[in-house]
Amino acid sequence: MGSINISNRFWVMKSLPNGNNFEDALEIREESSLDVPLGCFVTKNIYLSMDAGTRMYMTEREDSYQPPIPIGEKLTGTVLGEVVESNHPDYAVGERLRSYGQWSDYSVVDPKAMYPSKVDDSELDLVNYVGIYGANGWTAYTGVINTGKVKAGDTFVVSAAAGCTGLMAGQIAKIAGCKVIGIVGKDEKCQLICKEYGFDGAINYKTENISEKLKILCPEGINVYFDNVAGPTLDAVLENMANFGVIAVCGLMENYGSAERLPGPYNYDLILMKRLRFEGFFSPDFYHREPEINPILKNWSERGLLKLPIETTDGLENLAVAYSKLFEGTNIGKVVVKV
Ligand SMILES: NC(=O)c1ccc[n+]([C@@H]2O[C@H](COP(=O)([O-])OP(=O)(O)OC[C@H]3O[C@@H](n4cnc5c(N)ncnc54)[C@H](OP(=O)(O)O)[C@@H]3O)[C@@H](O)[C@H]2O)c1
Repeated sequence: MGSINISNRFWVMKSLPNGNNFEDALEIREESSLDVPLGCFVTKNIYLSMDAGTRMYMTEREDSYQPPIPIGEKLTGTVLGEVVESNHPDYAVGERLRSYGQWSDYSVVDPKAMYPSKVDDSELDLVNYVGIYGANGWTAYTGVINTGKVKAGDTFVVSAAAGCTGLMAGQIAKIAGCKVIGIVGKDEKCQLICKEYGFDGAINYKTENISEKLKILCPEGINVYFDNVAGPTLDAVLENMANFGVIAVCGLMENYGSAERLPGPYNYDLILMKRLRFEGFFSPDFYHREPEINPILKNWSERGLLKLPIETTDGLENLAVAYSKLFEGTNIGKVVVKV
């Protein structure tokens, strides 16, 4: 075990967040040294990725992918940073890596926890490595292509469609030749995804009857639903699925704030009536596919077929405000904090 003297600010939960009130529940603290266990390294963080799924670890829910983050412990997430100290032979000082670290100035990274990957220094905009060329890009890709198994001519629906993962999923389905409908929480987002991102139609789930609008927009039935939210939206989509359709289960925005499980869909019977396939997918299961997927995403991005706006909040101290955007729906595309 080594140790370095360094002034490090880091975020903790001082209490479980009530709904979307992260500003009261999270607190920034400071320390003057960091322990660096054998096999670990330290990065000076440049960008922190704000991910909606982290909200699950801020509850007492025990059956999630990761145990709850205890009150007072450092909050964790994907970080992009430069190695400043290394106690591991494979990671050298000066290298830029995307890894699983802490919401802090400096992260102590155990590469065994999640495989860190080296960032291509020739990429002008490093932030893309926590956007298009990061877990959200791979999630959108595998959800549409591998789980959804979309075909040209399919009708594809995605929820949280103006957020990071959903916006990319919709564009990838469009590239694959689908008719694409997005479900979002604001009229401005409806207009934006159709005008700027090529969606064929949009629904405001806060003001419109989702099921009725889907009947109008997708009279032929939905072949693939990329579900980011679950809850009543899923029930409305189930009513409009085509026979032999696929529900690709990506996330549960409706339920991340709660330690309780959501009840199953009311329209469960329709899974049988329409012979649907329901399948979940989780990004760490396909991290090893980065060398295969990133060149495809890069090609689409360079040809202007896949775009991802980035909302950058400057300053670690403003992280709680940045994180709230995901749950208040004030973001378009990826939310990051520039440390
Ligand atoms: N399976 C995986 O491996 C994996 C990996 C990455 C992300 N995900 C999932 O992808 C989804 C999006 O995550 P992200 O990090 O990319 O965030 P994001 O989509 O950039 O932001 C979340 C969006 O969700 C919408 N939203 C918030 N609360 C909602 C609610 N109660 N009902 C419906 N929509 C709501 C908001 O937009 P509106 O204005 O439209 O409400 C907001 O913009 C999450 O479910 C996340 O868990 C899964």
